[in-house]
Amino acid sequence: MADWITGKVTARTQWSDTLFSLVVNADVAPFKAGQFTKLAWHGEDKKVARAYSYVNAPGQECEFYLVTIPEGQLTPHLAELEVGDELLIQRTATGFLTLDEVPAGRDLWLMGTGTGVGPFVSLLAEGSCWQQFDNIVLVHGVRFGEELGYRERIGELTQGRLNFHYVPFVSREQIAGTEPGRITHAIANGSLEQRVGLTFTPEYSRVMLCGNPQMVRDTLSELKLKGLQKHLRRKPGQILMENYW
Ligand SMILES: Cc1cc2nc3c(=O)[nH]c(=O)nc-3n(C[C@H](O)[C@H](O)[C@H](O)COP(=O)(O)OP(=O)(O)OC[C@H]3O[C@@H](n4cnc5c(N)ncnc54)[C@H](O)[C@@H]3O)c2cc1C
Ligand SMILES: NC(=O)c1ccc[n+]([C@@H]2O[C@H](COP(=O)([O-])OP(=O)(O)OC[C@H]3O[C@@H](n4cnc5c(N)ncnc54)[C@H](OP(=O)(O)O)[C@@H]3O)[C@@H](O)[C@H]2O)c1
Repeated sequence: MADWITGKVTARTQWSDTLFSLVVNADVAPFKAGQFTKLAWHGEDKKVARAYSYVNAPGQECEFYLVTIPEGQLTPHLAELEVGDELLIQRTATGFLTLDEVPAGRDLWLMGTGTGVGPFVSLLAEGSCWQQFDNIVLVHGVRFGEELGYRERIGELTQGRLNFHYVPFVSREQIAGTEPGRITHAIANGSLEQRVGLTFTPEYSRVMLCGNPQMVRDTLSELKLKGLQKHLRRKPGQILMENYW
């Protein structure tokens, strides 16, 4: 497809054995915070392409947050890229996990697992969320503490914002300053609302979910019990979702 262009890696961060970020210099088309594009690797006889969310705000250098799936077709190759290496990137982004798809509300809840925090970092960096919502809550669920990627960047982007709450969950070890277990359990038992001081209501809450598809499904079920519904253009609700697999 004519939409593929070549990008060059200008920086990389290794967060853990499997989590890494790539900053890529490429002449991509304008996109909206929360959207994704495709990255590809050309083997001897075929091209393997997968979707990746932009972590950067529109207009900044392209940045992606990835997890290596050891048996995966693409990520082991992307994980080997070093500064100066080239890769294929789709010029045009797409996707509906964007603020213009969210009906007006008071509280914006951004909830992601693993690399699913990426599009929310882009939204915070882009900044129009601060005008659209009175309160913003970013909930990030990971297995181990070292997987709380972008924690510092999130701190920088939200410094001085009294109406912002960052709630990290670590499910497989105890880390001071984080919540134990899964996001879904904390919604079910009310501890998430209590921790933040906001209640889930159809009137005030707008929710964006991203990452592990089982987390997305289970969170949707929990929020339905609180009266929230999936948002569809033809049937407005409160919850927007993006499954990573
Ligand atoms: C809209 C969209 C946006 C995405 N954005 C990102 C992103 O920003 N960062 C990112 O790392 N991935 C993202 N993904 C997932 C990505 O497209 C690939 O599926 C992933 O990188 C695995 O590719 P692979 O070829 O190495 O593995 P494959 O050979 O395709 O194996 C896929 C298997 O790996 C597991 N898996 C896939 N993605 C993930 C993941 N992110 N975390 C944990 N397990 C996973 C699942 O079990 C899946 O069945 C996104 C997917 C979609 C649909
Ligand atoms: N060190 C490593 O080897 C390593 C590290 C990270 C990732 N990976 C690779 O990446 C893949 C995925 O990694 P990931 O960390 O992004 O995985 P993940 O399975 O999506 O886990 C991320 C967080 O989501 C939680 N979660 C999972 N299912 C949920 C559900 N239904 N409801 C609510 N929360 C849920 C997990 O809790 P639980 O812990 O309770 O499941 C964890 O806290 C793995 O399969 C592996 O291949 C490997």
